[in-house]
Amino acid sequence: MVSVIFPAAGQGRRMQAGKNKVLLELAGQPIFLRTLLRFSAVPRVDELIVVTGADEMAYMQQVLERTPGLKPWRIVAGGSERQYSVANGLAAADAQADIILVHDAARPLVSQATIEAVIEGACTYGAAIAAVPAKDTIKVVDSEGIVQSTPPRRTLWLVQTPQGFQRDILLRANEQAAQDGFLGTDDASLVERLGVPVHVVSGGYENIKLTTPEDMRVAAALLQDKTD
Ligand code: CTP
Ligand code: MG
Repeated sequence: MVSVIFPAAGQGRRMQAGKNKVLLELAGQPIFLRTLLRFSAVPRVDELIVVTGADEMAYMQQVLERTPGLKPWRIVAGGSERQYSVANGLAAADAQADIILVHDAARPLVSQATIEAVIEGACTYGAAIAAVPAKDTIKVVDSEGIVQSTPPRRTLWLVQTPQGFQRDILLRANEQAAQDGFLGTDDASLVERLGVPVHVVSGGYENIKLTTPEDMRVAAALLQDKTD
């Protein structure tokens, strides 16, 4: 059984909308709802767990209750950091779930092919993440603004969500991180610390995380010619 955890408990500070960005409408539909509908279209997905702020749970519930076509869902309260929100979602997953995907609620443009590839990768390897090759050259820069190094571009990948894991691997990774006081910027970084190999599967350049105001215009444009 596949459960998907959607961290949606952020403040959306960089979006500067004065509220949680996942509640903003994109082409007439709240962002978080678009994201849940994408996953609901994938046959292998069994359960949706939305993790959000305590004061947003009632509103989200209303929206989901009046939306047809969603897979079984539940809403749980998040934490002060994304990692804690994911941990709360993980604790709420159905006992039968053996594969857990984590996907930012703020990525509504994810394709079904990417979702399926991550599920397949998690089943086969235990840990799989969606990513795309970096297009730009990326440099390591110190706090003085001086370039320290230029890693070869062919080794650099831009990591997205979904990230998928066998449940026990993600549980162990979260427990270890909590014990060590380690805070990662994605879920795979917690798994990497266990020494478990994390496999990269093909994401999509359109699978952007809506982060700053101009991302809304980019997403609206991408939605217009979306076929999948
Ligand atoms: N998130 C979460 N719990 C937190 C922080 C973030 O569930 N404590 C979620 C966000 O809602 C978002 C995803 O994690 O769907 C990715 O985080 P990010 O893009 O950083 O969103 P925000 O934290 O909301 O934005 P910002 O960092 O600009 O405030
Ligand atoms: Mg954030």
